[in-house]
Amino acid sequence: MAKLVGISGSLRQGSYNSALLRNAAGLMPEGSELVVDTIRGIPLYDGDVETAEGIPERVAALKEAIAAADGLLLVTPEYNNSIPGVFKNAIDWLSRPPADIKRVFGDKPVALIGASPGGFGTILSQNAWLPVLRTLGADLWSGGRLMVSRAQTVFNQDGTLADQKIEEQLKTYLEGFVAHVRAARP
Ligand SMILES: Cc1cc2nc3c(=O)[nH]c(=O)nc-3n(C[C@H](O)[C@H](O)[C@H](O)COP(=O)(O)O)c2cc1C
Repeated sequence: MAKLVGISGSLRQGSYNSALLRNAAGLMPEGSELVVDTIRGIPLYDGDVETAEGIPERVAALKEAIAAADGLLLVTPEYNNSIPGVFKNAIDWLSRPPADIKRVFGDKPVALIGASPGGFGTILSQNAWLPVLRTLGADLWSGGRLMVSRAQTVFNQDGTLADQKIEEQLKTYLEGFVAHVRAARP
């Protein structure tokens, strides 16, 4: 059983990216599972807090969930043509202390998708993640791409997918990523 963890980079209740993640969890190939986790509760990174109190409980819990998973799915919004601060902040906390990076992210299969109401579907945000993932030593899967544009037309009010074509693309994307995870971690 390939076990993946997924996190959305949006805290918004009606988030398209969180909806995309929930849909992904429901479209996983047989013999695989996607557990939806969250960046909610992760404080702003503060080196003084880290020195005085160590790693916050919520950060430590998410670190362990990622370390235990066979793969990680990041579902990223795009803010000002880059990574939203709350999402980057979460990853920054998750990369502490540096001695733990290899255990949590090293050679970890990571896939990257995103949704935006705009016409480019988070392409620049996805690009902005590349140096971050390289720095963490993650194994970015680049065998497929999924950029959901015009997101307001893609989801129903309840967050389910209204667009059959996107659903097919998401399914195909997940099949490719899970095949990669299985090959990387037989
Ligand atoms: C500060 C800010 C900057 C944004 N910049 C971009 C952008 O550069 N490109 C884009 O496609 N959408 C941009 N948006 C619109 C977001 O894609 C949109 O709010 C989207 O719904 C956020 O993702 P979510 O639905 O998962 O919360 C921006 C939104 C905010 C709040």
